[in-house]
This record gives sequence, structure tokens and C-alpha cells, in this order.
Amino acid sequence: MINRAWPYPPIVAHRGGGKLAPENTLAAIDLGAQLGHLMIEFDAKLSQDGEIFLLHDDTLDRTSNGWGVAGQLPWDKLVQLDAGSWFGKTFDGERLPLLAQVADRCRQHRLMANIEIKPTTGLEVETGRVVALAARDLWQDQVAPLLSSFSYEALEAAQKAAPELPRGLLLHEWNDNWRQMTDALGCLSIHLNHKLLDEQRTAELKQAGLRILVYTVNEPERAHQLLQWGVDAICTDRIDVIGPDFR
Ligand code: G3P
Ligand code: MG
Repeated sequence: MINRAWPYPPIVAHRGGGKLAPENTLAAIDLGAQLGHLMIEFDAKLSQDGEIFLLHDDTLDRTSNGWGVAGQLPWDKLVQLDAGSWFGKTFDGERLPLLAQVADRCRQHRLMANIEIKPTTGLEVETGRVVALAARDLWQDQVAPLLSSFSYEALEAAQKAAPELPRGLLLHEWNDNWRQMTDALGCLSIHLNHKLLDEQRTAELKQAGLRILVYTVNEPERAHQLLQWGVDAICTDRIDVIGPDFR
């Protein structure tokens, strides 16, 4: 039986602090909190030696001064990289954060978390398992983090490892099997590209008992419309535009 409780707020910071700071860094999380966020979404994956850290892409090239597949490097190499200066000079020296550091920051700022399990290709099952076990441990004194993934296998592994943690299936393209998939995974929520939603689909998903989170909504009119249809949470890059009065 799924616990249908939804303790999460309607606005969620995308990749820590959205487009206002280098994504998936502690600086982004600090800024998100400062701007009024109550919850953050971020992307978690494994280093070669099994440390859980934050990064969106498989490779390091776009958001750090490193290159190549991040999951093929050990943590002692990854920790030396600069993950801030690509975004702007004021973020020079910002590091890739470990999941444990992010849990501390969430506790410090009283932020809730949506941990997106973003496995390096081929490491879906292991990443799902390890992230779920760590999340259980690191967030034991905080509101349970919502685990999500585009990877069915990663969510299935998370479900096996820590069945009590809430799960959300991520879809970038519409999938007619959404009901079967979310049922099998015991999902509390479905996380969708907001362009996939209209009022009827929203109603259908709600009817099935699912909570709905959408990404990435940066326009107040669209955010209003989605919330009015019954969407539960909006993941945004631009809380400065959407406005904290949405809470
Ligand atoms: O979890 C919502 C959103 O972050 C999914 O897309 O590519 O930004 O991780 P992406
Ligand atoms: Mg993400």
C-alpha cells in the first residue's frame, strides 16, 4: 500500500538553484534557499569508486573544467574539478558536491529534496540501489526525499533497496504504459515534461491517484495554469520570475 502523503511544496528549484547559479552545486542550493525555495531537485550519480555526487550530464565537459565520462573517474579526481567558473567568475572554485554534503545543506536551510537518480549509462541498477540506501540514511531526521528517475531500472532497484522512500517516475516523452509502470514501481508521483500535459491528461493522472510534478516551468502564466489543473509541484529555473508568492 502506497503512503499517499505529499509533504512537498508547489515550487521546486531545478538543479539546486535553477538558472541563477551553476547547476547541482552547493552555491546553487544556498542561493535557492536565499531566494525562498522550500524544496530542491538535483541530479545524483556514482563515481568510479562508488561515491554519490551531483552532476547532470554523463560527461564533465559542459559544467566543469574536466572532460570525459564522470562515472569513470574516482572521487579523489572529481573533487579537484571546478564546477563553478563555467557559469561565472564569482563561482570560481565551486566543487562538485557529495550527496552527504547536500543532505547537510538541506538540513541547514530546511529544504526538502527531490533526488533525481541520474545513472551513468550502464550503471542504472547499482546507482538506484546505492542512492536509495544513502538517501534513507542521510535524510533520516528530515522529510523523506522524493526519489525520481527516467530510468525504470534505477527506480526498481531503489524500490527494492528502500521501499519506504517515495518514488516518482520521470517521463520526457508520453508513454501510454504510465499506469502499469507507476503501479509496478509503487510510485507516489509522476514527473513530466510540462509540455506533455493538458487538462484532460492531468485529470486522468490524478484520477489514478498519482501526484504530479512538472519540469521545467519558467513562465508564471503557465505555472498558474498547471497548478489550477491540479498539478502538485512545478520545477523551475526562475523563482525570481515565478515569484515566491506561489507558495
Ligand atoms: O527532475 C526534473 C528534471 O530535472 C528532469 O530533467 O534533464 O533537468 O534532469 P533534467
Ligand atoms: Mg534533474
